[in-house]
Amino acid sequence: MSTFFHRPCDTAPLPGELDVFHPAAAEQVRRYHRGMAGYTETPLRDLHSLAGDLGLRRFQVKDESLRFGLNAFKVLGGSYAMGRILAERMGLAPEEMTFEQVTEQLKTGSGSYTFITATDGNHGRGVAYTAAQLHQRCIVLLPAHTAEERVRNIAALGAEAVVTDLLYDDAVRLAAKMAREKGYILVQDTAWPGYEQIPLWIMQGYMTMADECLQRMQTPPTHLFLQAGVGSMAAAVAACLSAAYPQSPMKVIIVEPDQADCLARTARTPDGQLCRVPGDMNSMMAGLCCGEACTLAWEILRRKAAYYVTIPDAVAALGMRVLGNPLSDDPRIISGESGASTTGFVVELMRSPELADVRAELEIGRDSSVLCISTEGDTDRENYRAVVWNGRCPYPEKKD
Ligand SMILES: Cc1ncc(COP(=O)(O)O)c(C=O)c1O
Repeated sequence: MSTFFHRPCDTAPLPGELDVFHPAAAEQVRRYHRGMAGYTETPLRDLHSLAGDLGLRRFQVKDESLRFGLNAFKVLGGSYAMGRILAERMGLAPEEMTFEQVTEQLKTGSGSYTFITATDGNHGRGVAYTAAQLHQRCIVLLPAHTAEERVRNIAALGAEAVVTDLLYDDAVRLAAKMAREKGYILVQDTAWPGYEQIPLWIMQGYMTMADECLQRMQTPPTHLFLQAGVGSMAAAVAACLSAAYPQSPMKVIIVEPDQADCLARTARTPDGQLCRVPGDMNSMMAGLCCGEACTLAWEILRRKAAYYVTIPDAVAALGMRVLGNPLSDDPRIISGESGASTTGFVVELMRSPELADVRAELEIGRDSSVLCISTEGDTDRENYRAVVWNGRCPYPEKKD
């Protein structure tokens, strides 16, 4: 069963260095991404029939399975940060930085670089993709039990994909150690004290999704559901959309796996002290299986997101099936485990009698306009088929 927690947003202003998520900055980030081979805007799908079925005014889903042909949004962050790192080293002005400029400078300069990261799959694939476009070396560490398909996809881009016997958070520590010892550049999608600049650039990179949404949406959503691993993506999108619609009463709802609920646990602490989730996380939502929140992301989320939800795998599976089997003429969206988590929760929320109180607290219903991001496609096709074709993780329907 999903859980729900309301934590009123902190009202203190954002620290100045985090005040970089707004529409003008998002436009600049998107200009950078436009210069990369394979950039196209991903579609913002309007699921009219599903909205009607669930008793909502509008249900929009941004489909990130079509991002750069990489099946997930993640490349947006790593690629932008790698541009900023190189721009800084080559003395380029960040406000005007374009991908073409960075590649040109690399050709004329003599430097070559090794980028390293740890990943559940999607982030590493994006870093490997960008390193290949920049003709730089790339090492990607993966946690134990990573799906083989995710490893193959990274290696196919020319990166050194190394499957470790570690949990995700320990693989991150190993990547950081290797970077320190060997002079590699760590491109990690989470921050900790002393490692903040690159994760902040990664978060800024995610704003391209926000910019694309802003260009397409006529009105702000009333309810923005965002899935979180370390919380960087959710924080960037929530901050940028809130800045774009300062007068809107948009509610931001964070969705995590019940096995990896570091933000929900943190939200429950009276003083917002970061909470770790120790040990192995047995959830198929691999992209969200993070035990330690990004420190920068939490500083933003505590001010922008008042609702924290945890879901079991069965709810993500429900989302995968609903998006993969559309009603009447709604478009089909191939959405993987992490990608479908938010849609799965919205479906559960609107249909489950047990969640009537939560619906009331969120004031969600006939007048509501929901926005979700399907952050990945079928990045683990074997599991996608097991869930969508063969009914793995059935959602427990209540028997009367
Ligand atoms: C598909 C997918 N969705 C969502 C996320 C969550 O992003 P974050 O870790 O920034 O919260 C990830 C993270 O890897 C992911 O791979």
